[in-house]
Amino acid sequence: MIDGSKSSQIEFRDVTKKYGEFAAVRNLSLAVNEGEFVTILGPSGSGKTTTLMMLAGFEGPTTGDILIGGRSVANVPSYRRDQGIVFQSYALFPHLSVARNLSFPLEMRGVKSTERAQRVERMLERVHLRGYEDRLPSQLSGGQQQRIALARALIADPPVLLLDEPLGALDRNLREQMQGEIKGLHKEFGITTVCVTHDQEEALTLSDRIVVMERGTIEQIDSPEALYDRPATRFVANFLGEANFLEHELTRHAPTEPGTVSMIRPERIKIGAILSPRSPADEETHCAEGTVSEMVYAGPLRKYVVRVGDDKLTVRQHVATNQQAFQTGDAVALTWLRSDVRIVQL
Ligand SMILES: Nc1ncnc2c1ncn2[C@@H]1O[C@H](COP(=O)(O)OP(=O)(O)O)[C@@H](O)[C@H]1O
Ligand SMILES: [Mg+2]
Repeated sequence: MIDGSKSSQIEFRDVTKKYGEFAAVRNLSLAVNEGEFVTILGPSGSGKTTTLMMLAGFEGPTTGDILIGGRSVANVPSYRRDQGIVFQSYALFPHLSVARNLSFPLEMRGVKSTERAQRVERMLERVHLRGYEDRLPSQLSGGQQQRIALARALIADPPVLLLDEPLGALDRNLREQMQGEIKGLHKEFGITTVCVTHDQEEALTLSDRIVVMERGTIEQIDSPEALYDRPATRFVANFLGEANFLEHELTRHAPTEPGTVSMIRPERIKIGAILSPRSPADEETHCAEGTVSEMVYAGPLRKYVVRVGDDKLTVRQHVATNQQAFQTGDAVALTWLRSDVRIVQL
């Protein structure tokens, strides 16, 4: 065990992990505050699992240090660390009942059997699975199995919870439900949590802060809102949501520095009929005229692709009463606030 103080602040100090010559993680520095929910988000192969494996103690860093509660754990093996783990590869014990699965971490810690039974029952209540204690994992749905996996990770009250793609195997509705459940449990337990996912929506929904990784390094660390609204790089802008990158022609009033590009989110652009006399651009508003080249109806939203000169801009508009709809080939006016344009690094 780490020690009795249960301080759960996590710190990566300039951590690099190499497999042979290949650096899966490079010079990663990150501090996770006590009680915080931090998600590592990135495409496949960006180094997320490797980072979490080092935090879990299944892998050691090649260089750098990892601290939990101020103490180095770089050389502490997994079984001596006090943490709850939900990994896809760390499934429930298939031959043990739900109750035995939950009881196992407590047995490992020498908790007496009457207390174990009480804690198992309380935990089952928390994840809404009372009455399931005698079932085998194979007799549960995917969502129920995942709830039991979470319950097992939390039952011994560890200071740190690690989640790797915890909802990866579930379908959409169930994912949303489980996101709510994870959020609720995090709040209730106040447990320092590091989660890994490639799913943007999951990251945005769950996290206090998101770490965006790409090719083994950190691109940006920020709150979900700040990441979406003020992406630092083109990669982050593209990876979290949709982005329009504006050619010089469309930003001629806003000089951009070399190595940067102007970006605007599709929902920040207004689409309307061309007025005569045309609505003038001014200091606050930019106007451009173009032709609809594509319209996709997606329930509450319409997505338009509009050709403006050599550019194509994507516009998202909520379907609302009195909202004019356009078809392919229509001439339209696009307007946006200059203050909604972001400058991002290439
Ligand atoms: N044991 C290993 N040996 C060699 N290369 C590995 C090993 N584990 C991971 N890698 C490589 O490190 C990179 C990052 O992998 P990983 O951390 O699993 O990415 P992610 O979880 O973001 O998909 C990948 O290119 C992967 O092929
Ligand atoms: Mg992974």
